[in-house]
Amino acid sequence: MYVRHLSLTNYRNYGRLELDLSPGSTLLYGSNAQGKTNLLEAIYYLATTRSPHAEQEQQLLNWDADDPTQPIVVGRLTASVVAQGEERQLEIRLIKEQKLGQSSFRREALINRRKVRLMDFLGNLRVVLFLPEDIQLVTGTPSQRRRYLDITLCQVDAIYCQALSQYNKLLEQRNALLRQLAEGQSSKELLPIYDEKLVHWGSLIFARRALFCQEMGREAQRIHYESLTDGVESIRLHYLPRLLGNGQRRNGVAEPLAELGSWLQMGGIDQEAIRTRFTRELQTAVPQDIARGVSSVGPHRDDWLLEVNGRHLGHYGSRGQQRSAILSLKMAEIQWMTQVTQETPVLLLDEVVAELDAQRRSLLLYYVKQAAQALLTATDPGMFTADFLRQATSLAVQNGRVLTSSDPIS
Ligand SMILES: Nc1ncnc2c1ncn2[C@@H]1O[C@H](COP(=O)(O)OP(=O)(O)O)[C@@H](O)[C@H]1O
Ligand SMILES: [Mg+2]
Repeated sequence: MYVRHLSLTNYRNYGRLELDLSPGSTLLYGSNAQGKTNLLEAIYYLATTRSPHAEQEQQLLNWDADDPTQPIVVGRLTASVVAQGEERQLEIRLIKEQKLGQSSFRREALINRRKVRLMDFLGNLRVVLFLPEDIQLVTGTPSQRRRYLDITLCQVDAIYCQALSQYNKLLEQRNALLRQLAEGQSSKELLPIYDEKLVHWGSLIFARRALFCQEMGREAQRIHYESLTDGVESIRLHYLPRLLGNGQRRNGVAEPLAELGSWLQMGGIDQEAIRTRFTRELQTAVPQDIARGVSSVGPHRDDWLLEVNGRHLGHYGSRGQQRSAILSLKMAEIQWMTQVTQETPVLLLDEVVAELDAQRRSLLLYYVKQAAQALLTATDPGMFTADFLRQATSLAVQNGRVLTSSDPIS
């Protein structure tokens, strides 16, 4: 699939942008703070309805347009996407309204100019984004790693996305009930009613994540071992499902989450077994959950980790090893998405080529060339080979404008 046209209004430092894009590779170059990252972010946002940075969405509105004296300010992102021979227009509106001194913010999503739920918007444009800060998938928090699972899976699996949304709603309700129970304001009889639904949606999430980690792990190992490290490093992706309460022990031995992850991954992902286990663990954790007012078991507390040659990459890996492993993981994501959807996703590479050595660079550019479309940013086009530049479209980005060859460079 590829984006044929991108149009932005009041988005970040783009007041107005109309940009035709070609299939193949496009290099966006320019000095710092001109709008290269913002442009990739816009395409990512249209694919995922999320910013790569977990910040407030109002910040996406162009600050010059965001005039508090105006009753309404609208930012608009539109992409014409060609997929399997058909073209679709995707649009997201960011709407900020002032009423009686109160400011409110909402979003609207449209496909071919018809409003749809955000959930149904997903899956019409699929991207894989490479950022220098991807290394945080190793060094960052479990919540950042869950976010990665969710955003990646939601692009290809509508049922997963629905399960996630239902699960999160139920979880909030269950936590509210736990707090009421702690204050003696509600009846324990209500818990099983929530738990039954929580287990239904939560088990789907566990199973889907386990399968994802299994498929991604296999692909990452192939790339990492064979192509990136010439047989020197083996990589493993462990899913750590929170199917166990805090500090619980079985037969006097702590059961590591990694074993549970393997159990999910190996057991052919038996939904029924997951449901049984999840139900049991939820029940066991009830006294503790009431005391704390939060649910301690469930996919909202999941994590995953990478191991290189049997050691935890976050704890023992060098910076270089961490970078390589993340690169393998992201390339695995391209392969995984292509296999699942029978189409290459749009690749977005933000300043990642510059920091790679020759071997890693040429491997990454191999994937770039395979994709129907890739957008790359760089401050200096000189870091690309003449061969690459010959077959790529180069566009200069300057102060919220994308200059085509007919524009004068000021
Ligand atoms: N909401 C906004 N409105 C206007 N400008 C913004 C907004 N958010 C960020 N910017 C500005 O956009 C500029 C370009 O950012 P970025 O795309 O990250 O540049 P580049 O990747 O080319 O270095 C920055 O100077 C930043 O201050
Ligand atoms: Mg940038």
